[in-house]
Amino acid sequence: MLEQTGQTEQEQTEQAIPGADVVDVQSPAWGEDAPRGGKAVFSRMTKENSTVPLFFGQTLISSLRDMGYNSTTSALCEHVDNAIQWGATEVRVYFRQTGKRGGLKTDVLVLDNGTGMAPNILKLATSFGGSMVFGSRSGIGRYGMGMKTAALSMSPVMDLYSWQEPGAYYNMVLDVEAIGKERANLIELSDPVLMDQLPSEISDILTKPMTFPNKDEQDLFTNSAEDMKERLGKSGTIVYLPSCDRLTSAFAKTLCTHAITEMSRVYRRFLAKGTKLYINNRLVHPFDPTYSMASARHAAIPDITVKESRLRFSKVVEVKRSESQRGAETDNVETAPITVRLYELPIEDWGPLPFKVRKNDLHLYDDHTISVLRNDREVFVGTIPKIMKRHSDNNWLRIQIDVRGELDEAFGIAANKQGIRPKDYVLEQISSVLEGELTALKNQINRYQRDQTVRRHGSKPSAGELKADEAEERQAKPLIETPAPTTPEEQRQLDENLLTLAIMLKRDQETDEEAFDRVKKSTHIIHYKHDEYWPFYHVDQRFGKIILTINTAHPFYEKLYDPLSRAALMLDVRTAEGVSDGEENAAAEPQTFKGANDALVALQLLLLSLARTQRSMSQQDRDRAQLFDLFRKEWSETFKTQLASH
Ligand SMILES: Nc1ncnc2c1ncn2[C@@H]1O[C@H](COP(=O)(O)OP(=O)(O)O)[C@@H](O)[C@H]1O
Ligand SMILES: [Mg+2]
Repeated sequence: MLEQTGQTEQEQTEQAIPGADVVDVQSPAWGEDAPRGGKAVFSRMTKENSTVPLFFGQTLISSLRDMGYNSTTSALCEHVDNAIQWGATEVRVYFRQTGKRGGLKTDVLVLDNGTGMAPNILKLATSFGGSMVFGSRSGIGRYGMGMKTAALSMSPVMDLYSWQEPGAYYNMVLDVEAIGKERANLIELSDPVLMDQLPSEISDILTKPMTFPNKDEQDLFTNSAEDMKERLGKSGTIVYLPSCDRLTSAFAKTLCTHAITEMSRVYRRFLAKGTKLYINNRLVHPFDPTYSMASARHAAIPDITVKESRLRFSKVVEVKRSESQRGAETDNVETAPITVRLYELPIEDWGPLPFKVRKNDLHLYDDHTISVLRNDREVFVGTIPKIMKRHSDNNWLRIQIDVRGELDEAFGIAANKQGIRPKDYVLEQISSVLEGELTALKNQINRYQRDQTVRRHGSKPSAGELKADEAEERQAKPLIETPAPTTPEEQRQLDENLLTLAIMLKRDQETDEEAFDRVKKSTHIIHYKHDEYWPFYHVDQRFGKIILTINTAHPFYEKLYDPLSRAALMLDVRTAEGVSDGEENAAAEPQTFKGANDALVALQLLLLSLARTQRSMSQQDRDRAQLFDLFRKEWSETFKTQLASH
């Protein structure tokens, strides 16, 4: 191609850029919002043969504002991390909201009573990459970026105060706009400024109640400015972020609620050991997604009698820091230990609780199956498909993995601690360690839930049974072999037979009398049985009753019948998301509720009509009866194979 046109590669490239001839490639084509000062300095540097810094501060500082934090809470965690790492026993986070709807202004502040920083350290800590623990893996910090990037991700200004003796506050400011205006090629930080008092803007936050939560829920830092010096104590740090322009929400209430929910879990180990964390003056109590901490929030729920989950399995596993090279002769990659724990939640105690309590108080359905902690601070919570495999519905078990900083690469823990990206070999190892116990626990939970479903059908005929009975008089072909006792003796005999039948078909928690009553009144009866070797259904006719037995051990039950009956009963959370239990549900979500219930009735009728037809077509014909039986068994096997997951 090039040879054909006879053009050089450079000529081609130049032609390929539309309008390239009008752009002056020597002067920067910066966007509207780009820092002016920066542009002037940059232009100067392109012309002069000047010193060029490795990092161009005027622009880099605004680029760093976009360092990804998932939410305001996760950015704030960087400051709480620092506070905890530097020995704080009390940390306070504030969202001060002022102004009216449409013009709300939010200032964020984090205060701690940790070691504080000496002026020279404070100055260094303000620079990007400046860290007292760079590259160390034993604590929480490691990269020298967290404080700055997190602060600027919320506000264009970071106003920092630190002290190591009472009343001597050193202040440093990072102001994105001011830095953008800098005229120097190399931007230098000025020295910290010493103050003997905090600005009133800040002491106001520490002395006055916030707009959220209610005043009586707020435990103020101090209520008089006179006490301030004493209360701030020997040492501490304040990160003040005025007029935040990049927060997840404009409302203090939303910000607080989210921060409380997340931080109570992320820092649970520290909170349980006595670190006091306040958000808008409200003390945060630890929340433990594994329910194994006796001091965590769930233990205070009055309705529960069993307070802790059961540790089923705990194992220390050596994990390679990096994957060994393929074909390497020896396997001398360094390893570090992780601890994998599997917890079984008290389903027998908590399962019967009202849905509202399970969901809103216990938070059972918050997608907390796996929690990963790095040096005691949670870095991930959720599900990891490669560990959970085909298991679905994992609300009644929890996995906790403790990892040390040495394994940051293996677990894909990045600078800003936004989740994890574990390497495949790590996941495979964890999964193989857990596999047996996980399957056993999962089966146990499934069995319990199945029993419960059967129990829930109670002592009343189901809607499907009732409907089939009602339709009986409209059926073209009547049922044969319906007993019609004419004498009291015949009636007594029939009742005796029905009582024997009723005891056979009796459901859990049903008395003999209740069972007899139900069986006597119904023509169509659904019965449940758990037998691995049985087809998924079975039909029988006794004393004029069509008895349909559903096998709860066949995948038909697990995959179709059970989910549908739970959805119909609004006991399964996936269909009840966001609504409370029982009657209110039907009102709040009539579509979901009615749809599932109708579908269940239709499914019951499908099976009952099958049962009835099969009976009536084979009643006086042995060959047909055999054929139907064979058909049922083969169908069931084919169905099972199709439903099986691999
Ligand atoms: N709350 C604090 N108390 C005392 N020192 C702090 C605090 N926050 C930050 N520092 C100091 O600032 C340095 C830089 O913090 P940061 O930017 O978060 O990076 P890192 O935590 O990775 O070191 C820390 O290493 C520490 O020396
Ligand atoms: Mg840090």
